[in-house]
Amino acid sequence: MNFISKSIINGSFIIFLLIAFHISIAQRPGSYNAIYSGVPWLDDKGNVVSAHGANIVKDNGRYYLFGEAHTDTSNAFVGFNCYSSPDLYNWKFERIALPVQASGKLGPNRVGERPKVMKCPKTGEYIMYMHVDTLGYIDQFVGYATSKTITGPYVFKGPLLFNGKPVKKWDMGTFQDKDGTGYVLLHGGDIYKLSDDYKSVSEQVNKAMTSGFESPAIFRKDSIYYFLGSHLTSWEKNDNYYYTATSLKGPWTSRGLFAPEGTLTWNSQTTFVLPIEGSKETTYLFMGDRWSFPKQASAATYVWQPLIVSGTSLSIPKFREAWKINTSTGVALPSTIGKKTIENTDNRFITYSGNWQHESDSTSVSSSDEKGASLSVKFRGTQIGLYGLSGPTGGYARINLKNTKGKMVLSSLVDMYTKYPLVSLQFLSPFVPKGNYTLTVSVTGEHGNWSDKRKNVYGSTGNLVSLDKIFIND
Ligand code: DGJ
Repeated sequence: MNFISKSIINGSFIIFLLIAFHISIAQRPGSYNAIYSGVPWLDDKGNVVSAHGANIVKDNGRYYLFGEAHTDTSNAFVGFNCYSSPDLYNWKFERIALPVQASGKLGPNRVGERPKVMKCPKTGEYIMYMHVDTLGYIDQFVGYATSKTITGPYVFKGPLLFNGKPVKKWDMGTFQDKDGTGYVLLHGGDIYKLSDDYKSVSEQVNKAMTSGFESPAIFRKDSIYYFLGSHLTSWEKNDNYYYTATSLKGPWTSRGLFAPEGTLTWNSQTTFVLPIEGSKETTYLFMGDRWSFPKQASAATYVWQPLIVSGTSLSIPKFREAWKINTSTGVALPSTIGKKTIENTDNRFITYSGNWQHESDSTSVSSSDEKGASLSVKFRGTQIGLYGLSGPTGGYARINLKNTKGKMVLSSLVDMYTKYPLVSLQFLSPFVPKGNYTLTVSVTGEHGNWSDKRKNVYGSTGNLVSLDKIFIND
């Protein structure tokens, strides 16, 4: 599906700077009024929300997000974060719910991934499950931790046991059925039923139906279970796929892809599906990770989209850069970001520094891969966003927003790499008080790479950042 080819200019990448027209009352810095996919989110303290491989639990009317904290330098476990939100838009950092242990299986230089929390109906305890491993992924098992309160601190208890033995697989997920029974899901399709206290496995209810199928997630609508997962492509995205069944014991029927072929699940990997049950309907929120190895803490983002669920059909037919959810009614609503454009040659607003190439073919483009090259935009407004056509030679861009006193309002790192060219929202500031600001976009001269056990190198092959159009609002 060649959805963007007309926009590709000789491998250059187009960045549209979008300054949204803010029509409602200005909001304090750090607040959002919709779910924005594919952009770094800032929490209540102005830090990037770092919660990957996550799940969400609704507890006493509030949403709690648990995810991998990460750093920008290695894949070593640095803790699982907990955030909370009243609306799924604005996240408050609660705490590191499970920190790195002083030693042992979740100690320094280990791997901890895909935390999933469930409240045990019988005991009222909150149980966190996770994939525990070595940095080389050769000591894999499902671990668990417990806490009396949802935000933690969680106490690591070691491996989850089935017949006295650890469940030794990699990617895992969880599912809590309507009757309160808890399940742990493993890649390939293994499903284990948990004991009443959620602290061990009582039965294996399904054996793997395939060899791949990482990042497993299950949700249920009426009498149908939907089992989502991905192919095995390390930190690269792929076209995720799903199965359906009317029993967790199967038989599971393969149903193919749920996002358009070639979008690589809108450049994300499944982690969880959250049913948002309201007075009018239930919206099934697909939660995907847009990894950005190695800068997972700063640049990895989230693809959260409403699923269309109809019988055994599951789909995300289009990518909604912005959308709203009414958590009372359960109704998903469209949202917009902004409309007007200003050409990159408009020097009333843009100042370039360093070596930029200005092309003037069918779509004029200003581009640079020179470390330290930058552009700055002076504007008056309340929110600024950055549209990017990322692609195979995209690199990291540093984005800073300062006020007229030169104070840093926010700083964000954006990864312009995707396996195929894709125009999408790459950065969006929270709403800030209406005023005069300067946005600076700098070429970092870095890009993301990783390798597999056979030392094949994957990821970007360049550091390119480009500008085509600017949106400005007075
Ligand atoms: C894919 C998995 O889904 C992730 O959780 C992580 O383990 C990466 N592989 C590591 O390459």
